[in-house]
Amino acid sequence: MQKVTYLNKAVFPVAGLGTRFLPATKAQPKEMLPVVDKPLIQYAVEEAYAAGIRHMIFVTGRNKRAIEDHFDTAYELENELEVAQKHDLLALVRSIQRPDMDFSYVRQPRSLGLGHAVLCAEHLVGQEPFAVLLADDLMAGLADGQPVLAQMAAQFEKLQQSILAVQEVPLAHTRRYGIVAGEPAGDQLIKVTAMVEKPAPEAAPSRMGVAGRYILTPAVFRHIRSQASGVGGEIQLTDGIASLLDEESVYAFQYEGKRYDCGSKEGFLEATVELALQHPEVGAHFRNYLKNLQLN
Ligand code: G1P
Repeated sequence: MQKVTYLNKAVFPVAGLGTRFLPATKAQPKEMLPVVDKPLIQYAVEEAYAAGIRHMIFVTGRNKRAIEDHFDTAYELENELEVAQKHDLLALVRSIQRPDMDFSYVRQPRSLGLGHAVLCAEHLVGQEPFAVLLADDLMAGLADGQPVLAQMAAQFEKLQQSILAVQEVPLAHTRRYGIVAGEPAGDQLIKVTAMVEKPAPEAAPSRMGVAGRYILTPAVFRHIRSQASGVGGEIQLTDGIASLLDEESVYAFQYEGKRYDCGSKEGFLEATVELALQHPEVGAHFRNYLKNLQLN
């Protein structure tokens, strides 16, 4: 019988410059931009944790110190909160870094692409399956359902093969995504037959676009390493996965939930409004505020 492998590691590529969000990202990482009251990277780490992952691996770069600090003990702050008996805030601050989480950091010295960023984490991942989460894709699961990566981890337990989160995208937007082609393979699953990074609409093999969640087998490292630079002169994760198809099956998974493209201003604003409406502290007030806005 096949030995079932569980996921325990997640890679967060966070070395990008965030130029789409200047000037906000001049001196702070884009992954630290808050949606309501929580930085984007914390949403992604919580999603990985909810999928059973405990080892969080960040591929960072210059100007990203704030991310390391965010997931570290804040001794002075915690001490102040303790003395002031602000127990709720203290618990909130401490919950960011759960006792059973491990954190590792590795630097991507140059912006050579997402595939290259993932390769920088190879020595920390080793010969295990791992997840990749792009924090600027904020994924909200359905209200009564599981978070997106947990849905994927459940599929992985059954399939033991690489799984990519996909959603249908407008034909005019294929240039923004890795696009997959494949055959239906059961509920919410497509067995991938081809994959291409950011094709023009007329060259796109389908409208199934990859969202920023992947579960990958370690064989992908070898395939990424053999890739020449692709779209934008970068080493693309998509090209590595397309090459992996020669060796292993890869599945695309139509997740339940909503993706906010928080790498764009519009997506970031949509996430802010919708998550604010659901927020236990400010939601009711914010709903009233929006209702009373005179929009024309
Ligand atoms: C990256 C990937 C792309 C994927 C997208 C999802 O592109 O290269 O295949 O569809 O993330 O957000 P980026 O948005 O970093 O240009």
